[in-house]
Amino acid sequence: MRKNIVAGNWKMNTTYQDGLALVSEITNMVQDEVTGPNGVEVVICPPFPFLFAIGKQLPASSRFHLGAQNCSEKESGAYTGEVSAKMLQSVGCEYVILGHSERRQYFREDDELLSQKLKAALAAGLKPIFCVGESLETREADDTFNFISKQLKDGLFHLSNEEFDQVVIAYEPIWAIGTGKTATSAQAQEVHAFIREQIARAYDAEAALNTTILYGGSANAQNARELFSQPDVDGGLIGGASLKSRDFTEIIKSF
Ligand code: 13P
Repeated sequence: MRKNIVAGNWKMNTTYQDGLALVSEITNMVQDEVTGPNGVEVVICPPFPFLFAIGKQLPASSRFHLGAQNCSEKESGAYTGEVSAKMLQSVGCEYVILGHSERRQYFREDDELLSQKLKAALAAGLKPIFCVGESLETREADDTFNFISKQLKDGLFHLSNEEFDQVVIAYEPIWAIGTGKTATSAQAQEVHAFIREQIARAYDAEAALNTTILYGGSANAQNARELFSQPDVDGGLIGGASLKSRDFTEIIKSF
């Protein structure tokens, strides 16, 4: 069955000290305030150097999970500066974000490379959070569905059924990332439902029903409840608001 997940993508923010303080505030607030039947999983995705320490600081509960923001497509070897999926798994990561638009845009990650990264992550036992999303230009040209469908086909749908079972999808319209311009809940729902339909075609109805699909892009404490109330929105991938403990906790409480 699909899960409700709120994941915090810290991107290239905080120092080690600030990161530890932030995660301690978040875990305290969540433990104090999120009680009862709210089964939401919280995934914290800090920068690489802080992963191990932050993982150690997460309470041993089924609520909190650790994720990385990227991994190498290579398994190991002479690749100076790279971080392998196995390394991430060995320091306690369960998830890894792949295909974020910032990686596609600034680091020229294409569908071919992302396919290899997905394979590497899955082989190491990590669950990929695979991002898709259109630019403003694409949306205005009324080409959103074609574009998303191509990203899914070329980047993701080469996986076997068993591999695909491990994947979480994040719909992050580029025009909504860091802009304060959130997709309306209707816009998010429309694309999420479309993604689910594409999964049903590529795999089957059960896979479509069981896949967690997150929304990302200027999600915050004010709009999360409305977004999460949509039938095909299973949670959020949160950037800016995940760096503020109060806001992030309120988003988690929106379920
Ligand atoms: P913002 O929440 O800052 O818009 O970022 C969204 C995002 O890119 C999460 O991966």
